[in-house]
Amino acid sequence: MCGIVGYVGPKQAYDYLIEGLFRLEYRGYDSAGVALQDGSKISIRKKTGRVSQLADLCKLLPIHGTSGIGHTRWATHGEPSDTNSHPHTGGNGEVVLVHNGVIENYSILRDRLRELGYVFRTATDTEVAAHLVAHQLEEAVKLGDDPFEAETCVRAVESAVRQIKGTYGLAVMFRDVPGLLIATRFGSPLVVGMGRGEYFLASDASPLVGHTKEIVYLNDHETAVIKADSFVLRHQDGSAPALSIRALEQTSRDTDLGEFDHYMLKEIFEQPQTIENALRGRLDDEEATAKFGGLNLDPQSLGRIDRIVLTACGTSWHAGLVGEYLIEEFARIPVEVEYASELRYRNPPMADRTMIFAITQSGETADTLAALRECKRKGHPTLAICNTVGSTIAREADGGIYLHAGPEIGVASTKAFTSQVTVLTLLALLLGRMRHLSHPAGKRMISQLREMPDKIRQALKCFDAVKDVARKYYTAENFLYLGRLYNFPVALEGALKLKEISYIHSEGYPAAEMKHGPIALVDEDTPSVFIAPRCEIYPKVMSNLEEVKARKGPVIAIACEGDDKIAELADDVIYVPDVDEYLQPLVTSIPLQLLAYQIAIYRGCNVDRPRNLAKSVTVE
Ligand code: G6P
Repeated sequence: MCGIVGYVGPKQAYDYLIEGLFRLEYRGYDSAGVALQDGSKISIRKKTGRVSQLADLCKLLPIHGTSGIGHTRWATHGEPSDTNSHPHTGGNGEVVLVHNGVIENYSILRDRLRELGYVFRTATDTEVAAHLVAHQLEEAVKLGDDPFEAETCVRAVESAVRQIKGTYGLAVMFRDVPGLLIATRFGSPLVVGMGRGEYFLASDASPLVGHTKEIVYLNDHETAVIKADSFVLRHQDGSAPALSIRALEQTSRDTDLGEFDHYMLKEIFEQPQTIENALRGRLDDEEATAKFGGLNLDPQSLGRIDRIVLTACGTSWHAGLVGEYLIEEFARIPVEVEYASELRYRNPPMADRTMIFAITQSGETADTLAALRECKRKGHPTLAICNTVGSTIAREADGGIYLHAGPEIGVASTKAFTSQVTVLTLLALLLGRMRHLSHPAGKRMISQLREMPDKIRQALKCFDAVKDVARKYYTAENFLYLGRLYNFPVALEGALKLKEISYIHSEGYPAAEMKHGPIALVDEDTPSVFIAPRCEIYPKVMSNLEEVKARKGPVIAIACEGDDKIAELADDVIYVPDVDEYLQPLVTSIPLQLLAYQIAIYRGCNVDRPRNLAKSVTVE
């Protein structure tokens, strides 16, 4: 949430900053702003709305400077407005900064600073940080420190953040020290790109693509002191952490739209490839099992696990629910799926042999990170199922499994979901083979998994049928999504996709539970999407479908190719390839993603930038 960029070097900083903000816009798009230092002063441009509106403003009122910072905002404290947009200034303009995170004790700090004479112009928590740094600077100068020295500025930032409770990723510039950029973090990600005689700063690696191949992730409590010719990392406790330089693997192709109108559609159509990537090198034919390189657990420890907790938020939580069904069926290990935001504050009994998996596309979700840390603190092995290489969760977990799905930019998660489900299927296979699952059963799973990229390719052919259905129902104000067993989490995910990007009220339910409440919503204007591929309890799902029809509710069925019977009952049918039940979420989620996409398009919504949402939720 909120994106930060920064630059110090010989070039005009604006070009990198604005391009970087476009790439980080998925993190928030309530407003955007930049500040540039031209050697004698810092100029600021900021604007409510999208980065493109900021770019338009900067065309009208250009700014210059070879060091600068930028920000794209997802509002927490203070409505989206030009005034509340970052960058914010502290003191009399001697400090300018951008912030990602939440300052929880901002009202106490603000009152204290007001008493000291600082004037607050915005409704943000961030302005507190700006004044606080300015105040620390003033105090240091009173004690005889030189305000034109970088060291004085670094100490001012360090003293200020020591007083902050909450989370922050901060990029700070000083009017009187041109060419100095200070970045520090706690709980919100920051990464530095190493150039030749120049340095780049960003909230994640995507703005750095094309500028550098070497990056350094900041850890909590670390401060980067950046000038055009030097980059020093220090810990807030005064120590000097070792510099761990990593290779940037992302390429610009990963972030191009290609032939597609939207990232969401591009990512939906990437799924045959992303599922193949999730499987690559992980199928062991000889042993009829799965293998992972990064679990960092020996087979004995894995074999001893007798309970698993999957924790996540949003779509990743839905993938966790599929994981619960998979692991319990194939490995017979009890699994619980916990909302990370709840788990972090609960204190559920967890026996010693409980293993924790945090499932996260971004690897930065604040609640998931906090839940992981809490479980780690209690001594449990923590693993991550994560897409973003080098993200905080990927680095802090004891081990993990990468999705290798490439950057997911559309705010509504699609390809990450199916990759997570694929990886969880592999995990169920691995844990199952260490326990009760037979060699032939493992072999069968492997060969079925190998077919999945093709099955997804076939499933994607339903797009034309989906468009017809979307055209028919896009004006509906309520939708129900109903499925059973493996398709219950798919129903939840389908409903989430629709509400996220089309703002239609939609609810997902286990199909039989519908009778305990949601059936009251059924009428001629409320479509019910039944996820009803062939399965053990197919006749029961059909009875639920009849119950909706009997109340004149329109029914859209997601069914297996060749199921002609369902066409007699449902108003519309979208067909997907027939696969074993445990693999159905991978194919049945495809038409639901496409349906949400197409309905949003017909309603004129911005599918890649839905209102109020952000891709990476780094505040709790
Ligand atoms: C946000 C995103 C969702 C995502 C959720 C969890 O709400 O909009 O698409 O599922 O965060 O994110 P994570 O990166 O942890 O999977």
